[in-house]
Amino acid sequence: MKGIILAGGAGTRLYPATLAINKQLLPVYDKPMIYFPLSVLMLAGIQDILVISSPEYVGNYERLLGDGSAWGIKISYAVQPEPNGLAQAFVIGREFVGNSPVALVLGDNIFYGAGLAETLKRAAARTDGASVFAYHVEDPERYGVVSFDGEGNAVDIVEKPVMAGSPWAVTGLYFYDNSVLDIAAQLAPSARGEFEITDVNKAYLQKGALHVERLGRGFAWLDTGTHDSLMEASEFVRTVQKRQGIQIACLEEIAYESGLIDLARLNERIALFGSTAYGTYLKKLAGSRIAVD
Ligand code: DAU
Repeated sequence: MKGIILAGGAGTRLYPATLAINKQLLPVYDKPMIYFPLSVLMLAGIQDILVISSPEYVGNYERLLGDGSAWGIKISYAVQPEPNGLAQAFVIGREFVGNSPVALVLGDNIFYGAGLAETLKRAAARTDGASVFAYHVEDPERYGVVSFDGEGNAVDIVEKPVMAGSPWAVTGLYFYDNSVLDIAAQLAPSARGEFEITDVNKAYLQKGALHVERLGRGFAWLDTGTHDSLMEASEFVRTVQKRQGIQIACLEEIAYESGLIDLARLNERIALFGSTAYGTYLKKLAGSRIAVD
């Protein structure tokens, strides 16, 4: 399975913080935001990843992530000339995806919770249709919203409804079979002028091929769309990391634990990070494995 991280957008909602920097390069506590969605794809077992960003910032991502060899994966890059919608990822990434199934994660989405890796691997293993995740939120109107019938089957998805039909937001993580390439290529822009991922999901729903998994209380899906929610996400990461002494979205840890890099490669990263908290954590990891699920 291939993976795409969409990390473009104008970031206007976070002005002036994002006047001269792309949103997904901002730190969430101690790491660039894009580390979090990248860790999600790695936990799903995906090793061939395309990062899509705007022309001004794609070079920053290349400097930050390189070719992915630091984590034993392959990362390539593509440009989205204008932020015309999430579904464009599959038009821009068509050649990259080829004949494979593909996962898309939005560069500003943060997931954390017990059993996340297993949940992701399960979704990645489904070969037909689409898998998306729903999360119970206080303010569903800000998101794509999925409604269910009495038996828990998804019946409708609406992008940013004025009055939400349910409290279940569709998160920014999507697993698709290869037909997503053709579905995305045939979309028309929405009333707000964007190629909507919700229209892609609706196409799967209409053919009875949309699997919606509800993420329950054991999961955190954090928002970074406003100054307050970005600060809260940072506080969440800091609180969990300080209390447990365990990093969230430590790419080297995921790579080392899953056998993608060896000790020699890990030691190169330890040298790079020196005596920072991150470097010290990696040193501990090299000495003894931190086996906490
Ligand atoms: O976060 C989940 C939500 O993401 C879903 O519930 C919605 O259905 C989906 O439309 C999307 O809504 P947002 O309003 O959060 O999308 P936004 O325009 O903020 O874009 C999400 C990320 O994708 C953001 O980090 C910027 C990036 N982006 C966005 C667009 C429109 C791109 O890279 N290119 C784009 O063209």
